[in-house]
Amino acid sequence: MAFPQQRLRRLRRTENLRRLVRQTRLAIDDLVYPMFVCPGSGVRKEISSLPGCYHLSADKAAEQARQLASLRIPGTILFGLPASKDARGSSGYDPSGVVPQAIKAIKDAAPELVVITDVCLCEYTDHGHCGVIDSNQQVDNDATLELLGKMAVVHAQAGADMLAPSDMMDGRVGVIRKALDSEGFSHLPIMSCAVKYCSAFYGPFREAADSTPQFGNRRGYQMDPPNAREALLEAAADIEEGADILVVKPALPYLDIISQVRAATDVPLAAYNVSGEYAMLLAAEEKKLIDGEAAMLEMLTCIKRAGADFILTYFAERAARALGA
Ligand code: PBG
Repeated sequence: MAFPQQRLRRLRRTENLRRLVRQTRLAIDDLVYPMFVCPGSGVRKEISSLPGCYHLSADKAAEQARQLASLRIPGTILFGLPASKDARGSSGYDPSGVVPQAIKAIKDAAPELVVITDVCLCEYTDHGHCGVIDSNQQVDNDATLELLGKMAVVHAQAGADMLAPSDMMDGRVGVIRKALDSEGFSHLPIMSCAVKYCSAFYGPFREAADSTPQFGNRRGYQMDPPNAREALLEAAADIEEGADILVVKPALPYLDIISQVRAATDVPLAAYNVSGEYAMLLAAEEKKLIDGEAAMLEMLTCIKRAGADFILTYFAERAARALGA
């Protein structure tokens, strides 16, 4: 009997045949490595919630950057762990803060590496929210915008190549664009975390960044996981305001969202393979429940297949090695 599937089988017979007809190719070009930068020097301290990732002082971040460049990884995204936190997150827009210092050190060490910075207050506020809090204990959207604009300009002045707002305040992309333009940075792109769900998969990150909200939660400003349509609204609003690249996060439970945003927009799309997705795979690997290397490559390839042009992932370095760097 001749079944129509035989046509598919014929093309699966050898690895080289499979290579020829493969639709999605994961490459080192697709990877961005997140770094957590901290004060001091000589600090390279493993993050307990993210095995294999480190809190890095500026000098060590520069070393890591050199390593990424030698693996041909195109970019890094920086998150800051400041020396002190306050209600308005002022260490986040201090020109001599942790992120500006790290940017300078990284740019000296690896000038070609694309340095993206996270623009959000949650790493810098003592209450852990992504914006300033009003008298009703609610995040004050409009009061936060000005601070985000300030933070973006401070990062740009330190040498950042791209700004990545992840706070989910309404109107932030427009405000950041305007702030950058008026300070002479109209050439710098904005990568907006436009489609950011209120996810349990951020747990290890919040431990790493010490940014767990001290009261309440982020449901007021992050998206509700059961909803897909609002992803398109968020994406369209951010493009309208001037976003050059969009990010969907998390990645794995949201492959349908990646695919829909890809189809509905024409700007480059990134996916954030977040901390919980990383930690979950490592934990299963450690228990010998899964082939970690294969699962990592499958996961990253499938995020691309869904429609992401590139991936922010804690696996970037390991994946680059697996891909033959
Ligand atoms: C917030 C931010 C978060 C992540 C990136 N930016 C966490 C949050 O909303 O609490 C999570 C990334 C990850 O889990 O890897 N600025």
